[in-house]
Amino acid sequence: MKLTRGPAGLLCLLLFHLRAAGGKVVEDFQECGWFFQGKVPPQGFENNSSDKLARICQKHKDHYHFATLYRTDLRIPVYSAYRYPCSLGQEDEAAQIPSPWFHEPQIDDLSLPEEMANNIDSHGELQALNSDYEGEEYQRGHMYPFSLNNKASATSSCTLTNAVPMTQGANVNWHHEVEAMVAKLARTCHKSGRLMYLVTGSANPTEKKLKGRVSVPGSVWTALCCATPQDQDNDPCQSSPVNEELEGEHEVTYDKDFSYAFMKDLESEAKAEHLTVSEVQRRLGVDNIFNSCGTDGQDEGEISKEIEELINKMKMNIDVQEIKEDIAPQMPSEDIVATADDDLVMKQNETPLEQSREEMNEAISPSIINILLAPFEMFANATMTLAHLIAAVLRVFQVLAVTCLRIPFGIIYNSASCLAIMAEYLFVTVFSVPQDLLGIMLSIASDTANAISCVGRLFKYLVRIL
Ligand SMILES: *[C@@H]1O[C@H](CO)[C@@H](O)[C@H](O)[C@H]1NC(C)=O
Ligand SMILES: *[C@@H]1O[C@H](CO)[C@@H](O)[C@H](O)[C@H]1NC(C)=O
Repeated sequence: MKLTRGPAGLLCLLLFHLRAAGGKVVEDFQECGWFFQGKVPPQGFENNSSDKLARICQKHKDHYHFATLYRTDLRIPVYSAYRYPCSLGQEDEAAQIPSPWFHEPQIDDLSLPEEMANNIDSHGELQALNSDYEGEEYQRGHMYPFSLNNKASATSSCTLTNAVPMTQGANVNWHHEVEAMVAKLARTCHKSGRLMYLVTGSANPTEKKLKGRVSVPGSVWTALCCATPQDQDNDPCQSSPVNEELEGEHEVTYDKDFSYAFMKDLESEAKAEHLTVSEVQRRLGVDNIFNSCGTDGQDEGEISKEIEELINKMKMNIDVQEIKEDIAPQMPSEDIVATADDDLVMKQNETPLEQSREEMNEAISPSIINILLAPFEMFANATMTLAHLIAAVLRVFQVLAVTCLRIPFGIIYNSASCLAIMAEYLFVTVFSVPQDLLGIMLSIASDTANAISCVGRLFKYLVRIL
């Protein structure tokens, strides 16, 4: 699971350089409205007239993959809105981390192509560039996570308009505490026949700026809504194939609409808070993030308690699941082909999380054969034990039959002598079990042969009758 930089990586690099990849700056989000629950974008984020905003329908390889509200004065996203499931792109296309990351040509110049690109270096007046992150202690932290969907949709998440500066620790913990849990909730939601709408954003800009240009946010948040879409028209995500690999196994189910939210203070690096969507709205000073999803007071509180219980159940199963995922032959992250980029900040496979996974993998790999053989071994052992037991029990019945029940009419045997004889037989049994086993197997074989010949005879008989 090491990042490789072989010929394939170089080829990808070349392809990315030759081909403009995916985003379009739009007046309103109508063109990619299906990324928002009820097709209504979050309300109240655009009220502050001092914010310089750009709306982006994030386009890559002819598909819209998510939508971003971007602050061109801070050069970071306010939020990205996305869906699960929504993996669009060619069937055989693996997710990749592009090198360098994409940016959005149209933010600086509307006459440029509407797809994300990583082959033009002359922009950046109104957006972050890869060079802004060079030599900094901050990584490019995803809003729309790389690992939620796959194919071109995952690749498209690696665009600078979808990233905010995060320390490595904060980035890893955000993944652990929020992204991984959100992915499980999204899959639980989808298993109930619903779809997940998600919005992840930044808040509380600090004084810090990378290269004096890219604002470091004080916190990040995610709001999610699990619902049945009312309007099924013009919704490419609805027809996106579901990747069974991503879907995984599920031990928990939940069969209701729900909303939930997380928020993390990046400066204190305190654990992410679990909140209702209303509470996040209150803290951000905005109106509805979702058009209509668990925002009516009492219900929202009760449902979020149930979701909290669900999360606790998921946490209890997390270790088992991680081991399973590690043994699974095709982890989604194995599809990641890293392209040559020494400055690649979001080296997913090199975060502490992935390192410990790698160690776990190495420890597990040699014993995979043992694990695979174990059931057979156990089955063989169980069969042997069962056979021994059956033999012993048969012995006892034999003893009973021979000594105690073969009673001449009217005469009752001395029970003590009967027991003595039984004990003797049992003692003998223990030492003769292997022999008995052989005997039983032979008799099973002969019984089987008898049965077959009996059926044969029966068949012949029937033939003669007909
Ligand atoms: C609006 O912008 C001003 C100036 O940047 C800022 O001080 C204020 O907190 C903002 N208000 C909201 C509600 O975001
Ligand atoms: C934003 O503006 C709309 C329309 O003017 C208003 O209804 C809403 O209350 C405002 N939201 C906030 C958080 O100020």
